[in-house]
Amino acid sequence: MTRHFRRDDDITPAEQQQIIAMAIAMKADPYSHKPLAGPKSVALVFDKPSTRTRVSFSVGVADLGGNPLIIQAGESQLGAKESIADTARVLERMVAAIVWRTFAQSDIDEMAAHSAVPVINSLSDDFHPCQLLADLMTIGEHKGRLAGLTVAFVGDGSSNMANSYLVACAMAGMHVRVASPANYQPLVEAYETATRIASETGGSVLVTVDVAEALVDADVVVTDTWISMGQESDKEQRIADFTGFGVTTELLAVAKDDAIFLHCLPAFRGYEVDADVIDGPQSVVWDAAENRLHAQKALLHFLLTAS
Ligand code: CP
Ligand code: NVA
Repeated sequence: MTRHFRRDDDITPAEQQQIIAMAIAMKADPYSHKPLAGPKSVALVFDKPSTRTRVSFSVGVADLGGNPLIIQAGESQLGAKESIADTARVLERMVAAIVWRTFAQSDIDEMAAHSAVPVINSLSDDFHPCQLLADLMTIGEHKGRLAGLTVAFVGDGSSNMANSYLVACAMAGMHVRVASPANYQPLVEAYETATRIASETGGSVLVTVDVAEALVDADVVVTDTWISMGQESDKEQRIADFTGFGVTTELLAVAKDDAIFLHCLPAFRGYEVDADVIDGPQSVVWDAAENRLHAQKALLHFLLTAS
């Protein structure tokens, strides 16, 4: 059966560990695996802008022996003249996998439902699961483990990143906390899924409006932009609503002294994070950006060999 990666919990906790271990091996030996030899092509479809995702998947597909085929919004019939289902039926005849960055999660689900090749969500409005594989890999590199660590996500709790943090960290057996304004909460379904998974992995889940409650004793501090792609027209309102939820040096000091700081990037210094934090000694954001490459190569290898 074709395996997809529509959201963080499309893999099991054991598979998550397996993919991260493979990513670490591929980081040490980048050209060791060629599941796309041929070269086979992978469609990389972008309905939103991207730097890291576009570059890391392009380089990763090439490293795996394949050919990256980038399709930007407006360059194909998808969404304009052709349905998602018909697009899937055509792409699956020619490519080994479909990587799609778009808006509605339901569109990713629909593509997967009609595709005989793996469909990977490279960011939707609801989830950013590829980023979480890289972030978990990075946390493991710096902390030596994942299970039992406490992660505090501070900022836009309604973002794709917050939802993915809840689910992916619960899968890893971590204690995951989200602090956000009351009207910017994670998806109820993501919260409930994370809570159920945490009860099986030994992790825990907390959603709060109290930033200090989330940060106290945290091993990892994370944030994301307050204005996600597609929300630009609400910029002024959102900046006002998130006052007090920016990660400053004072707030970072509430976490453990050796806490690390993560941000998926792009970052807006002076808003969700201060320059002193993201450019400071506790920041591991550049490691996480690099790890997108290794984690996604491992993900592609897993999906291509599991399908
Ligand atoms: N973090 C991330 O997905 O970055 P891009 O938007 O540049 O791909
Ligand atoms: N939440 C952000 C993540 C960017 C990688 C967005 O969706 O724009």
